[in-house]
Amino acid sequence: MYEIIDKKKNGLELTDQEIKWVIKSLTSKKIHEYQMTALLMAIFLNGMTVAETAALTDAMLYSGKTVTFDGKNVIDKHSTGGIGDKASFILAPIAAACGVKVPMIAGRGLGFTGGTVDKVESIKGFKTDLGLDKFESLLNKNGQVLIGQTKEIAPADRIIYALRDVTATIDSIPLITASIMSKKLAEGANGIVMDIKVGSGAFMKKKAGAKKLAKSILGTADRFKKPSVALLTNMNQPLGNSVGNSLEIIESVEVLKGKGPKDITEISLALSAWMIKLAGVEKTYNKALARAKKALKDGSALKKFEELIKAQGGQTKFIKDYSALPVAKNKHIVKAPKDGYIKSFKCDEIGLLCTELGGGRKVKTDKVDFGVGFVFAKKVSDKVKKGDEIFTIYYNKGQEDVVEYIENRFFKDVIKFSKTKVEKPQTIYEIIEGKTC
Ligand code: URA
Repeated sequence: MYEIIDKKKNGLELTDQEIKWVIKSLTSKKIHEYQMTALLMAIFLNGMTVAETAALTDAMLYSGKTVTFDGKNVIDKHSTGGIGDKASFILAPIAAACGVKVPMIAGRGLGFTGGTVDKVESIKGFKTDLGLDKFESLLNKNGQVLIGQTKEIAPADRIIYALRDVTATIDSIPLITASIMSKKLAEGANGIVMDIKVGSGAFMKKKAGAKKLAKSILGTADRFKKPSVALLTNMNQPLGNSVGNSLEIIESVEVLKGKGPKDITEISLALSAWMIKLAGVEKTYNKALARAKKALKDGSALKKFEELIKAQGGQTKFIKDYSALPVAKNKHIVKAPKDGYIKSFKCDEIGLLCTELGGGRKVKTDKVDFGVGFVFAKKVSDKVKKGDEIFTIYYNKGQEDVVEYIENRFFKDVIKFSKTKVEKPQTIYEIIEGKTC
């Protein structure tokens, strides 16, 4: 392992055999996690060639069991991660209501971003650690299933993901490609829709990096002859209004009831429409989009969401009564200090400030607080008057000093105002189709 770390540290290309050996030794605990983190940092700093990325993806994919499902209609979506990204809870039931089968293996919070698994675990009773048999049977029965990284499927990703989360080695194109694609290919998805986030709240801050990542991910899907598409989407402000585990579940239900914010509704519909198209349920994107909108409007997607929660042991009372979720009891309203327009947010800081309240992890063993978070009343381009609410902080008793710190940091490092009008930002920047799409 010492020689392999040293080789990568010096910018040399690792062989297929060396990469396979590292992953095998990691999952069988023959090398130490501290050695793996050194290698991850060397990969982060020196990158990987296309051949190394392919070898790493394949080694991680075959680090555990793999599942196969028959049929073109088994499609998953994955996001590279952002702030307030709750689209999975909306698009999976929409797609499933339209006849797509959605086998989701999701992650926990990563770096400053929130995680789908942490969010859904704020629902009392909901189980994300189902065995493979249950995973397969639920997908076949209900057309949707949502689990976390397991010891059975792509176990190497589970270990590496947790290490990257706390060692600043996340925003690396080969590591993101291998992490996402090893899971997607192992879980049996026959087509993949990627939401590649771009901006201050994403791992790819600039469009050029996001396009490179899209090329790397779509190239991997092509190699496995899986149809795929990548949407490059705006992550310069929280998606929707809510940030924080329970708060985001509430907002997802609001979207499914047709009452959600415009940006998260638009992205969820676009992603589910691509899933419907890739599944072959509809021939054109426009027809697929019309179908997705219908599933949202006629309540069939909301019904499917309820079915997903029940099937995985969760209590569904919260769908009608949000007080059944563990939302923090105390609220503090952060107000505009002056008149103007909201110019920008430094969105990754919003994620980190949520972690300060306990909404994310600082070290691997931290327990996440499901109740804390933020609800934004204003977004980029909105006009504000001095004293208007910008956002509300949900916190626990005893966290008053953290709240004060968050408010100070927010005005110092996060929000920028403009005296003149600011253009409304685009939600979806670009769509890139894979070769086999
Ligand atoms: N999502 C993943 O599953 N892995 C990454 O590396 C980034 C986002």
